Amino acid sequence: MKKTTNYVLFVLLIILSACSSVKKSEKETNAEAKYLVKTDVPARPAGQQHVLGLATPKMDTVRVGFIGLGMRGPGAVERFTHIPGIKIMGLCDLYPERVDNAQKILSNAGLPAAAAYSGDENAWKQMCDRDDIDLIYIATDWKRHAPMMIYAMEQGKHVACEVPAAMTMEEIWDVINTAEKTQKHCMMLENCVYDFFELTTLNMIQKGVFGEVLYAEGAYIHQLEEFWDYYEGDWRMEYNKTHRGDVYPTHGIGPACQALNIHRGDKMNYLVSVDSDPVSIPAFLKKDRNEDVTDFKNGQHTVTLIRTENGKTIEIQHDVASPRPYSRMYQITGTKGFANKYPMEGYALQADAIEKGSIPNLENLSAHSFVSDEVRKALMEKYKHPIQIELEEQAKKVGGHGGMDFIMDYRLIYCLRNGLPLDMDVYDLAEWCCLVPLTAISLENGSAPVEIPDFTRGHWNDAKEFRHAFVEK
Ligand SMILES: NC(=O)c1ccc[n+]([C@@H]2O[C@H](COP(=O)([O-])OP(=O)(O)OC[C@H]3O[C@@H](n4cnc5c(N)ncnc54)[C@H](O)[C@@H]3O)[C@@H](O)[C@H]2O)c1
Repeated sequence: MKKTTNYVLFVLLIILSACSSVKKSEKETNAEAKYLVKTDVPARPAGQQHVLGLATPKMDTVRVGFIGLGMRGPGAVERFTHIPGIKIMGLCDLYPERVDNAQKILSNAGLPAAAAYSGDENAWKQMCDRDDIDLIYIATDWKRHAPMMIYAMEQGKHVACEVPAAMTMEEIWDVINTAEKTQKHCMMLENCVYDFFELTTLNMIQKGVFGEVLYAEGAYIHQLEEFWDYYEGDWRMEYNKTHRGDVYPTHGIGPACQALNIHRGDKMNYLVSVDSDPVSIPAFLKKDRNEDVTDFKNGQHTVTLIRTENGKTIEIQHDVASPRPYSRMYQITGTKGFANKYPMEGYALQADAIEKGSIPNLENLSAHSFVSDEVRKALMEKYKHPIQIELEEQAKKVGGHGGMDFIMDYRLIYCLRNGLPLDMDVYDLAEWCCLVPLTAISLENGSAPVEIPDFTRGHWNDAKEFRHAFVEK
């Protein structure tokens, strides 16, 4: 009897030690927790429900009002003229001439003029007050996003807002609470998740081609010298002057989070950031504007590392200063393969990653080098995402960053019209935007690890993977 008990204990010990070599022990997790800087997580107000999987009644026509018609907004108005089932009801900007120019987009498309709102900081509120608008689409500067979204939802509107949609933890929680209170859709307009390479790769991830994805990388690396002087009231330069941290993280983190099923079975636990000293933008300000800025806050290059509950890691970078080619990095590393978007799109796969014979010329597949161009093209064709199959041709014609902007807008309207959950919910907005304040906290505390809250307040594990919704045929 004693012999049997010892044997069982021995086997149990082996199993336990095998497990702890893979998963972190509770002791280790607690040690991490001890050093975390934490921000307040407000309790969900009594009687309020989460909005995970929110689906609202089908709409035959989605009536839209646009706020913000600067460099970005008019392109959205133009794209909407190609989307079935919409009615553009209102156009709003501080400047009446910007509204007039957007009206021309409508008349050129043979559409009726929309109601015009301009000339006043709060004119957009009158548009939100109307009862014949379903969706408010916001493309203003970063600081105005959250108050506009909150007011619009309180007036019973769904909202879609440009990136980043919220800049502080207080704004993020206010936006979540308003979306939950009103049960309205609140989507951030993160277009990069619809890029053809990211969509194809997501499909490959979901079909298991890369095995278990353990690491994802993303970035916004784009020298903005030719744009700085064109933002209304210099809002973007002002923000960078006064804020340290990754102030524009969503193009990088969005596709990484979808690849890792964040708040659909996993969650981001904490981040750490480092940045290099700001050099190029202060030099640009001296040269371009004869301005001496000695306390420019935003680092030249900011790097952030994130660890998830399920033991995955993410790296995100931000650099709008350095003279280097545009890059969103986008890398995915799994147990069976690797995907890379910049500077060259490529895949590297282990021999057992895909079924033999499913793609020609796979005999020498090895993850030590990228697959040939021919194999990459064949892979991208085989794993083309259903959304891309449906929209690629039209998206390329309508355009907007090569077509991804059109796909984003089309999907928003498709889901609203069909009463489906949107591709991105308010918790995605929160998770992707929280890097703005939390990277600043890390940097201002000697690169301390900062907790990333569970914005779903207990529901991050309800769904088990990220999926786009489609009408059942
Ligand atoms: N997703 C992308 O690829 C992408 C690309 C470019 C810009 N953006 C985002 O789009 C947003 C707008 O950027 P932009 O380059 O067009 O900036 P911009 O300064 O050119 O335009 C902002 C517009 O908002 C208007 N505005 C400001 N306050 C207003 C108010 N109270 N009422 C009505 N209108 C108001 C301004 O007059 C201006 O026309 C930003 O969030 C930016 O980050 C996203």
